[in-house]
Amino acid sequence: MRQQLGPLSKALPDIPLGQVGSKFMTHPSILASHPALATRADTWPDEAGCGALAERLAAAVTPTLSQGGSLVIELHGTLGAGKTTFTRHLLRALGVQGRIKSPSYAVVEPHQVPGIAIHHFDFYRFNDPQEWEDAGFRDLFGAVGLKLVEWPDKAAGLLPCPDLRLLIEPVGETSRQVSLQACTPAGAATLHALAEEGEAAHG
Ligand SMILES: Nc1ncnc2c1ncn2[C@@H]1O[C@H](COP(=O)(O)OP(=O)(O)OP(=O)(O)O)[C@@H](O)[C@H]1O
Ligand SMILES: [Mg+2]
Repeated sequence: MRQQLGPLSKALPDIPLGQVGSKFMTHPSILASHPALATRADTWPDEAGCGALAERLAAAVTPTLSQGGSLVIELHGTLGAGKTTFTRHLLRALGVQGRIKSPSYAVVEPHQVPGIAIHHFDFYRFNDPQEWEDAGFRDLFGAVGLKLVEWPDKAAGLLPCPDLRLLIEPVGETSRQVSLQACTPAGAATLHALAEEGEAAHG
């Protein structure tokens, strides 16, 4: 989790962050630009709850990804909501080994598990649209595999429509209310598979 105040964050350009005080710090117009086709809710009482959903999601997306498919998953939520934590649990469950670095400074961290390319983005410090081309982000989003995106609102207008969106809202020290929104048919299929994983998990 990054520090909320500090020299670097003070130096950030004045890119709209969303309405302060809005539930997820994402501007409603950004969410409205890709309406949800299907929605599910989840509650994480603690980080173990976060890990449990990540494991179910990993199981739900593995068939698509291991057959050469693509998925874009956006993670919305305030500083410290748990976007990176959820991503780490998801990557572990997909089979990523070793240290999983946060992409806070590099903007993107690549990962590989057999047959699946994964890119984890954090656009919090992204402030130059030219970087989209120069750093090859367009090519990365055009390639197959899994793309996980923190702070997507900072690159709004450049990013493709997400398949899935997670809106993570802290409601206590460790408790999180989560909304999962599917914005494409592939995302809706993922939510459906996730529900089936849940049923399997509960016997
Ligand atoms: N239920 C929970 N789910 C996820 N993380 C939790 C939960 N409860 C406590 N935490 C803690 O909250 C912190 C979340 O930090 P994390 O870096 O994942 O946030 P972030 O949303 O990625 O923030 P940033 O916007 O700075 O990237 C971690 O220290 C994690 O252990
Ligand atoms: Mg993070």
